[in-house]
Amino acid sequence: MANREKITLEQLRKPLKKLPKDVERLWEKYSLWETVKEHLTLTAELALGVADRLSIRGIKIDKDLLIKAALLHDIGKVEDKPLHPLKGRELLEKENLADIGKIIATHGYAYEITRQESELPRSWEAKVLTYADLHVDLELRPYKERILDWVERTAKNKEKRDLTSEQIISAIKRWNSLIAEINALLGVEEELINIHELHNLMRG
Ligand SMILES: [Fe+2]
Repeated sequence: MANREKITLEQLRKPLKKLPKDVERLWEKYSLWETVKEHLTLTAELALGVADRLSIRGIKIDKDLLIKAALLHDIGKVEDKPLHPLKGRELLEKENLADIGKIIATHGYAYEITRQESELPRSWEAKVLTYADLHVDLELRPYKERILDWVERTAKNKEKRDLTSEQIISAIKRWNSLIAEINALLGVEEELINIHELHNLMRG
């Protein structure tokens, strides 16, 4: 098959031309922190590059919608951290941006808490947003490294953590499949999280 050369995340990233008006207005309205804005911007840049490459492979993605969703996906953190994707959806519904809200609702682990099918990423926009977010904190990072960091921070904070070990493992299992699916399409090679090792890490 043509076009099967291996590619890195940094090569995929595409700079954004300018901030959409809705996004600018909401960033201001909810006084997002600078570091959050940096994370959102980088997530959108990676999401855009991923979407471009997937479109070459015939996958249809609404890029405007995806960019806006990526730039707003953590807006719910201003109020509620663990369920911030759902809080974000609620805020966006109030702003008459329900189509964006629907995408951002699925980027985290709300599904592990609510078990609502609507909290699973199904559309390509939702899947690409999740893919990008799983590769970005304040910089681009390999999926495995980024998530094991999160596990370390979460697992070590038993009093404050919002998920059980089983919920963490369940979220990571579904992220592993999503990452594998999209990496295969992109021609990106990277390590997934070994679930056996993860069990040990959670026990330790
Ligand atoms: Fe995020």
